[in-house]
Amino acid sequence: MSSSKLVLGIESSCDDTSIALVEVIVGDRSVEGRVVADSTFSQVIHEEYGGVVPELASRGHLAAVTRVLTSLDIQYSEIDAIAVTTAPGLIGSLMVGVSFAYGLSQRYNLPLLGVHHLEGHLYSSLLGRVELLKFPYVGMIVSGGHTSIYKIHDLGSVQNMASTSDDAAGECLDKVGVYMGLPYPAGRAVATAASEAEALILNGSFDPSQYRLPQVKKLSFSGVKTAFINLYDDLIANLSKDSNACNSKASLSRLDVGTGEIVQEEAPRYSRQDICNIVCYLLLETVTDLLVKYLEPHLEGVNGILLGGGVIANQQLREKIAVLGEQYGTQILMPEKRYSTDNGAMIALAGGMRLLNGLNGDMRVMSRRDI
Ligand code: KG4
Ligand code: ZN
Repeated sequence: MSSSKLVLGIESSCDDTSIALVEVIVGDRSVEGRVVADSTFSQVIHEEYGGVVPELASRGHLAAVTRVLTSLDIQYSEIDAIAVTTAPGLIGSLMVGVSFAYGLSQRYNLPLLGVHHLEGHLYSSLLGRVELLKFPYVGMIVSGGHTSIYKIHDLGSVQNMASTSDDAAGECLDKVGVYMGLPYPAGRAVATAASEAEALILNGSFDPSQYRLPQVKKLSFSGVKTAFINLYDDLIANLSKDSNACNSKASLSRLDVGTGEIVQEEAPRYSRQDICNIVCYLLLETVTDLLVKYLEPHLEGVNGILLGGGVIANQQLREKIAVLGEQYGTQILMPEKRYSTDNGAMIALAGGMRLLNGLNGDMRVMSRRDI
């Protein structure tokens, strides 16, 4: 026997105003999140500041939220509940979404559920598919604000196994990317620049094995960020030295394995763009390798891996985790790329799953709340 609820989900914890209508169908241990309609407005104003400015973010939500909702053409008589992100996030941004959701719930006499943003990310892979839930799962959220690994024993029973002690993985990509002049949020631009470096590998002017990448023993990305900012500075400094030196050409010694002789070769001349692409390539390799390394020890005794968060949209990371899943014979549930980044559909789904399983929401609005 299955039961279903039509839930309106509202997400405004950071810089995306996102609202979605989702039919949540729960059967005997199965879940389906059918997205009926969704709409997202992403604020671009933060690009010029290289990061999210909280006051501008809350004003941006205020200006956008009614427009995003009306673009959906909702029949309120058909809705069963409203779910809204209450924590964690920017307090002003959260307050806009929560006040708006509260107003709607009063106007249309609908129950209101407060949903934890990370619970939304954890179940986001269940959007657009029917899945038989086989707990326990290991969950990994990799976003701009969080990098955490969870053991999910059952619905509503989530144990934090590890969290970054400093920067989140997405924050590390964003900060190094912005430092090099890429637009904020920089994750996607870093991935695009990294793929451009492949041309340099093919023409032999960039050999990734020549670089010593940072070794990190615990879940942490602050040191990685500093190491790559320093690498970028060093490569740019060499570039200016080269262009200042008259007549002298930088050279590179290479052992010719055929003749056994040391040959002198002209060192590759990189442009600023090449350097940015090279740093992005090495950064993405390092961050994705570390995420796989941190995840691996948690795979024993679980039936699957639930992934969520903006960085999970990264193709390279998806491929590396897919290989890990094959090695362990573990099912991998990844959200569609558009549901990896912040979205209202995941909030509607998490709210609906709570409702159908007799769990309460939490209406306390907080910048931080543990899951
Ligand atoms: O989940 P999300 O939308 O917001 C938070 O809850 O933080 O994640 C945003 C993060 C940003 O750091 C952004 O640069 C990163 O996700 N991101 C990506 C990609 N798309 C977004 N990182 C790498 N590759 C991508 N394709
Ligand atoms: Zn998020």
